[in-house]
Amino acid sequence: MRTFRDFIEQLKENDRMAVLKRPVSRNLDLAGLMHSLEGRPVFAPEVKDSDFAAVGNVFSTRELISDYLGISKGELVPLMVKATENPEKPELVETGPVLENTDDDVNLHKLPIPVHAERDGGPYISSAVVIAQDRELGRNLSFHRMMVIGNNKVVMRILPRHLHEFIERAGGVLEVAFVVGAPINVLLSAAVSSRLGQDELEYANALAPVKTVRLGNGIEVPAHCEFAFEGRITREMHDEGPFIDLTGTYDIVRKQPVMEISRMHHRNNALWHVLLPGGLEHKVLMGMPREPTIFNEINSVCECRGVNITPGGCSWLHAAVSIKKKSEEDGKKAIEAAFAGHKSLKHVVIVDEDIDVDDIADVEWAVATRFQADRDLVVKENQKGSSLDPSADPETRKTTKMGLDATMPLEGKTAFEKAEWKKVDARDYR
Ligand SMILES: Cc1cc2nc3c(=O)[nH]c(=O)nc-3n(C[C@H](O)[C@H](O)[C@H](O)COP(=O)(O)O)c2cc1C
Repeated sequence: MRTFRDFIEQLKENDRMAVLKRPVSRNLDLAGLMHSLEGRPVFAPEVKDSDFAAVGNVFSTRELISDYLGISKGELVPLMVKATENPEKPELVETGPVLENTDDDVNLHKLPIPVHAERDGGPYISSAVVIAQDRELGRNLSFHRMMVIGNNKVVMRILPRHLHEFIERAGGVLEVAFVVGAPINVLLSAAVSSRLGQDELEYANALAPVKTVRLGNGIEVPAHCEFAFEGRITREMHDEGPFIDLTGTYDIVRKQPVMEISRMHHRNNALWHVLLPGGLEHKVLMGMPREPTIFNEINSVCECRGVNITPGGCSWLHAAVSIKKKSEEDGKKAIEAAFAGHKSLKHVVIVDEDIDVDDIADVEWAVATRFQADRDLVVKENQKGSSLDPSADPETRKTTKMGLDATMPLEGKTAFEKAEWKKVDARDYR
């Protein structure tokens, strides 16, 4: 079974990891460095004033994610669709590497938790996956950023989704666990929005095998994570933020719930995973899990060939979708279906299957040559959009959505087709 640290070792061996030669400060420098090396994994063996090493940009591209899973880039979305349809219960084992060390006297200040940017409210845990248990609904996994406000206290951003519901059902106080240094299948499972009551660890286990161990508070966590924490979400509320969000802009300060951490477990020489806010790794983890839902929704109205939630659109607000067009209405139907498949989507471009949705210049070419705004543009005003869009109406948070049908008309198609070049090997002429 492959683990987070196995992958780190592999990246080092294959010279795909930038290994820092000097100790780095967790105060702004570590995040600044990760930003300057976007797309390239970074290993910081020594972080000043901390007891552990840090890694970042680990799963910052689709290539890195597919390499971990041992598949090609094109197989990622189909694998995610298959895993959603075939969840499998992980095996519970007696003990595992994450239990190698246990500390009841938690001091978060000894961990390489960065202050990422100058206006941040404090040091932030950015890669934490919270695991919660409800008597009837079972297990839930979700990401929650956590601002450190004491040796064993954090304030966590909790949007009104499943964890929020679990807390309400528990009367406002909930025992949870969270892990740091989780493998990509667990990270992806925390990012998907399954139906309430679906155990997301089963989805993780369907992507790649997961074994779990039970912590003292009864919560099961993946046995091969680098760190696992036991904590209690309390009724205490505290200012959370500012913090850079997915859009690369600062999120505002809000009152959010405080968690008290009672125990920390970690592997020997544990690695702290830093997830750069608004960086490529954050983006790919947010956007990619929505691609299968767009794919499935479009497939129910026409034939979908590819979906790319693009980093330029913050990996949340923009998508490029290719279809195999069989009727003139397919482009417009696909626009509606894409919005249904990802509620936060703001702009979508539909192209034919001869366009590579992963190549933005190719998508732009289709818009330039196949699209007429008076005929092919769909504008939807006053829509419920993403809470992350800084340009949404400040009062209502409503937004205007736009769909571009950049597919060729079926009739007279030849006028729009890409010209073919003879394949000539340049080496024959040099
Ligand atoms: C890197 C990353 C960070 C995230 N941070 C937060 C967060 O701080 N608070 C939050 O409520 N959701 C956050 N999310 C979103 C949730 O993890 C995600 O929407 C998940 O699907 C919610 O799970 P649920 O559907 O089980 O409620 C984040 C997602 C990613 C990928």
